[in-house]
Amino acid sequence: MWVLDAGIWVFSFFLWMVGNTIASQPCIPKFFDSDAMVCVCNATYCDTLDPISLPPEGLFLKYETTKAGRRMELSEGTFQRNHTPSSFRGLKYTFNASDRYQDVKGFGGSHTDAAAINIMSLSPAAQEHLLRSYFSNTGIEYNLLRWPIAASDFSTRPYSYDDIQYDFDLKYFNLVEEDTELRIPLLHRIMALSKQPISLVATPWTGPAWLKTNDNVKGKGKLKGKAGDKYHKTWANYLIRFLDKYAEHNITFWAMTSQNEPDCSSYAMEDFPTINYSPEEQRDFINLDLGPALANSDHKDVHLVIHDDARIHLPNWAKVVLGNSSAAKYASGIGVHWYLDAMTSAQLTLGATHNLFPDYFLLYTEACNGFLPWDIKVDTGSWERGVHYSCNIIENFKYFITGWIDWNLALGMNGGPNFVKNFVDSPILVDASKDEFYKQPMFYHLAHFSKFIPEGSVRVGLTSNSFLGCTLKAVGFLRPDGAAVVVVLNNCYMDIEFSISDSPVGVIEDVAQAYSIQTYLWRHT
Ligand SMILES: *[C@@H]1O[C@H](CO)[C@@H](O)[C@H](O)[C@H]1NC(C)=O
Ligand SMILES: *[C@@H]1O[C@H](CO)[C@@H](O)[C@H](O)[C@H]1NC(C)=O
Ligand SMILES: *[C@@H]1O[C@H](CO)[C@@H](O)[C@H](O)[C@H]1NC(C)=O
Ligand SMILES: *[C@@H]1O[C@H](CO)[C@@H](O)[C@H](O)[C@H]1NC(C)=O
Repeated sequence: MWVLDAGIWVFSFFLWMVGNTIASQPCIPKFFDSDAMVCVCNATYCDTLDPISLPPEGLFLKYETTKAGRRMELSEGTFQRNHTPSSFRGLKYTFNASDRYQDVKGFGGSHTDAAAINIMSLSPAAQEHLLRSYFSNTGIEYNLLRWPIAASDFSTRPYSYDDIQYDFDLKYFNLVEEDTELRIPLLHRIMALSKQPISLVATPWTGPAWLKTNDNVKGKGKLKGKAGDKYHKTWANYLIRFLDKYAEHNITFWAMTSQNEPDCSSYAMEDFPTINYSPEEQRDFINLDLGPALANSDHKDVHLVIHDDARIHLPNWAKVVLGNSSAAKYASGIGVHWYLDAMTSAQLTLGATHNLFPDYFLLYTEACNGFLPWDIKVDTGSWERGVHYSCNIIENFKYFITGWIDWNLALGMNGGPNFVKNFVDSPILVDASKDEFYKQPMFYHLAHFSKFIPEGSVRVGLTSNSFLGCTLKAVGFLRPDGAAVVVVLNNCYMDIEFSISDSPVGVIEDVAQAYSIQTYLWRHT
């Protein structure tokens, strides 16, 4: 009976493979060091993935990426009978679809001026490959995009949308060429090629000099005056005006954060474009200015996100803002940046915040490698930087984050442009002189989540027996189509044998190669 079933499975898998008519294109590797590898794309070639097609019952799909050079390599396997034999000596995971945690919003990157400039520096055909790599169903299917409101440091100049002194009525408010010539046209192309809705998250870095205590668009200042006064009202109106202007281009936002890194303490560079708030100032600005302005505008469905800074400030920041019942009613979520995660515990920051405010989503809104002053800015082909991403995603999903947004979608080979020379790394590097771009290991580590865990998935229980020594990291989800997803990261120097049991479907027995990441996908229901 068992053998017969297996035969039918193999046959239906064969039919399923034949049904998949679009053939994926393999990675063309380029090495920067013996094990520092990127995949090269140009105007005529780029590696692709097939759209996901669930396997027949009884089979699972495995996508594998290894430091040794595999990139999202697809294979299939057969479930074993419904228990792990006692002779099995590896790590045993139990997938429990009834044990449900947070809903997933999704994965994405940030459409900075720098990203748009780099993408547009390629030929149109290479641009198309880059956009498809991120947003299409032959790519990694991002559904989130963070959107700076005017300049961030990843711009070529500091600017706001109203640099005319004391224009409190915002008569001269206007979008700039970075919006109308670069970012908006690219977004329309992204929306046209994506199979799912793209949720946009808008974020202000800085505002007009005349609203800031340092009288400069760049540099650290606060808003002049105090919450409820004309400076604060004008700043709230400015943010609404931004939403109005984008609506004229048929672009609506899912969310807006109240400020990028409002704490911007000592680590911010001197000329970094920013507005500083204490948590109390943010609470009062939301209460008296931004909350009412948004609620009385055409954009009252835009979700207001507080904090948008490192988790080291949690849960305190959330206690101050959301602990105030009137500010809390204007907000929907809490944005978190991954900087300094290594110094803090996910449980004591994210876990504690979720326990206090379970109705507010936690969303990672920014992450990048190479941000510390002593870091190598661009470490082309670095496997470790990919692991840094996947490790962070797995850990933080276990503490209730609902999504993870990377920083710049693409940067140049030096990690720029950035007008304060705050260069960093990116999953995609553009070499305009060769009309090529490079997909780094970070891109594929992100792909292992973003392609397989769509919006509306739910994180579910995945427990394991205790295992001595270097071990795997893993997280499980149930998709809206009823399929199960488990991502397994092996950052150890040795291969690790493991099993995943999903009763009543069966047991996956496999070996995770040293330095590898894999995604397993199967029909749960
Ligand atoms: C683009 O890449 C493909 C695959 O590596 C290569 O065959 C082709 O020559 C490249 N095209 C150009 C214009 O460099
Ligand atoms: C699965 O999770 C549910 C809900 O938390 C729990 O009641 C059940 O005991 C779990 N099953 C197993 C096998 O652990
Ligand atoms: C916005 O959408 C409307 C209706 O679909 C269309 O007529 C108009 O041209 C669009 N505007 C822009 C700027 O895309
Ligand atoms: C909330 O904060 C406002 C100031 O922004 C204050 O006036 C009000 O008393 C606070 N409400 C509560 C319930 O603490």
